[in-house]
Amino acid sequence: MPPVCRSCNVLAVFICASAILLLSFKSVTALSTVNDNLLDENGNPLVLMGASWFGFNNGATMVDGLWNPADAFTYDFATIIYRWQLLGFNAIRLPFSMQNLYDVAPINKLSTQCGSIPTFSQIAYSVVDPSAKVAANLSTFPQPNNWPTHSPSTCNEYLPQNTTIDRFVWVVKFLANAGFYVIIDDHTEDPTVVNNQTQFMSYWVDIVTRISQDPVARKRFIVDILNEPDARGWGWNVMSSLYLQVMDTLYPINNNLLFFVEGCGQGSFGANWGDGFQTTGINPGSGNDPNPFFQGLFGKPYINQVVISPHVYGPSVTGASSNYFGSGLWTRLSNSFGYLTKTGYTFNGMTKRFPVVIGETGSKFQIDGDLKFLADFKSYLLNNGSAADGLHNAIPNVIWWDWNDNSGDTGGLVDSTWYNLIWIKVEYLNALGLTPWYSSASAASPNLTPSSLPSPSSSSYPSPSTYPSPNSSPAPSPSPSSSPSTSPSSSPSPSSSPSPKGASSSCNALFQLSTPWSNGQWPTSSINIYITNSASSGTMPAGWTFTMSNAGYVAQSGTWNFRLSQLSNGVVTGIADQSWEALVAGGGSVNIGLIISSTTGSFLPKSFTVNGKACTISTFSSGH
Ligand SMILES: *[C@@H]1O[C@H](CO)[C@@H](O)[C@H](O)[C@H]1NC(C)=O
Ligand SMILES: *[C@@H]1O[C@H](CO)[C@@H](O)[C@H](O)[C@H]1NC(C)=O
Ligand SMILES: *[C@@H]1O[C@H](CO)[C@@H](O)[C@H](O)[C@H]1NC(C)=O
Ligand SMILES: *[C@@H]1O[C@H](CO)[C@@H](O)[C@H](O)[C@H]1NC(C)=O
Repeated sequence: MPPVCRSCNVLAVFICASAILLLSFKSVTALSTVNDNLLDENGNPLVLMGASWFGFNNGATMVDGLWNPADAFTYDFATIIYRWQLLGFNAIRLPFSMQNLYDVAPINKLSTQCGSIPTFSQIAYSVVDPSAKVAANLSTFPQPNNWPTHSPSTCNEYLPQNTTIDRFVWVVKFLANAGFYVIIDDHTEDPTVVNNQTQFMSYWVDIVTRISQDPVARKRFIVDILNEPDARGWGWNVMSSLYLQVMDTLYPINNNLLFFVEGCGQGSFGANWGDGFQTTGINPGSGNDPNPFFQGLFGKPYINQVVISPHVYGPSVTGASSNYFGSGLWTRLSNSFGYLTKTGYTFNGMTKRFPVVIGETGSKFQIDGDLKFLADFKSYLLNNGSAADGLHNAIPNVIWWDWNDNSGDTGGLVDSTWYNLIWIKVEYLNALGLTPWYSSASAASPNLTPSSLPSPSSSSYPSPSTYPSPNSSPAPSPSPSSSPSTSPSSSPSPSSSPSPKGASSSCNALFQLSTPWSNGQWPTSSINIYITNSASSGTMPAGWTFTMSNAGYVAQSGTWNFRLSQLSNGVVTGIADQSWEALVAGGGSVNIGLIISSTTGSFLPKSFTVNGKACTISTFSSGH
């Protein structure tokens, strides 16, 4: 167990005193801030451009998407991270659930034989925007900053397979050593903070202690204390003291940290989902009053390590019907957090300005309201044109939500193949400052056209078509109406039940549903099912049969890792008889899957049995 509180406090007093001394000598070993700017661990200006990649929060026990060993391009973690590096990202946000990290064993061993690892030049050219004018010089792309040993045709052999917390800490250290700033975020699915705040604090201490043991990672990770408190029904009346308590506790363990603080409690001002920092014109002491938080920061040794991190979305996610574009949007944002970058917060005659990092924003770019929002939000971040309201400074730090295709309300930077980039999103980030590796080549030879590129031929790639999923079908066109348009009063993504542990059945079936598309007749989805045997002993040998039923099931167009026996009257039966498919008690999961159509558009089965016995059914969650 992590240190108990008494020793923390003694340590805190000691370290606070040393930190004040250090500050007066202008320490440059910590991430920090000056006015509205971020400073890196060497004291130089820092701009964060990143995206979230979830999976440690929803029962997947690893970032999502590493599902198809046949395709190293989407299966090998280091390969994907190299793609991020080449796209120009320097930050990655990892949503997690403490309950998953500590109570859920890795569901997937991941380290395995895979399709051949792509070459560095294949990876470099896999992220070139087809509409960019790029001078092709294959020798000039940057090498990966961190490339673990790969045995031939083996992926992910470097990932810890023993516990989820070990894997998570390893991932953070790997990313930090690959040149990324790593934002770790206790996400909405995690019940810990609601159930037991002592436990919440102890887990934070343990996580920060573990990561801080790495000399590089300890200077490059960021604590995003609690995702979207509104989703738990909490406003500033709860969060002011909770935020301060977490920072008081963690700062003495690692005084290099930056802390991200999300807003809350201001839904009535149109602030949704992690927004809401307005400090004037509000009811003192109420859930929408952050003044006690800001006042509490004065005198804290970490005041220059606190970053304001609102989440800002368009109407398809927030459901807003006003103030999501134009001057209505700009006024709302300046009132909420823009003012903190320019005039700052004044208390007892002292004024403190804060940097802002947009901790989440994202969209499917499909509905008119979102397109208006995105254009005007860009102007606001750039402080350009009519959005230059004189009330805020430009905000260059943006963390996109997200890499994952399986985010129900926004989709991802990659489509359902997890390989193809959605260029309209990448280009939006390019306009905000994301600089891909080929941008200097582009500036050097602006007249070259894409046709002169050595275009990544499908034969030289592990073709995404080997992925057993919708990419071989007509382009998925998820309808905007399927996106959960929630308001802060309702709790988001309640569908996730990420704890196979609590299940009473000894068989668990974890479902991963793709965004549905239409096959021309019915809604269709690609379904991955991870089956585990959580009994204390006994193996179900390969050759087990399963049934899954849902009145809507009507046709399938592909299966993997099982033989279909029958699909009729909404019941699918099949047999998993490959030698490696034994369900070992307490062992890893066995993955089967299929592409199936459903007349009702619902894809989760009402029941799932293995050898006639019912399994508990859970889902990977999605949503921001
Ligand atoms: C490509 O880059 C290399 C290394 O910078 C340089 O030596 C070479 O001349 C370049 N080739 C072309 C065709 O520009
Ligand atoms: C898990 O594996 C990692 C290395 O892969 C190791 O550092 C760690 O101590 C292991 N943890 C346990 C609980 O065995
Ligand atoms: C809360 O967590 C602490 C630390 O793990 C534990 O000692 C305590 O028993 C828990 N309290 C409850 C009510 O479960
Ligand atoms: C800034 O705004 C002007 C018009 O207000 C527009 O023409 C220009 O493209 C904008 N610049 C950027 C970088 O968006």
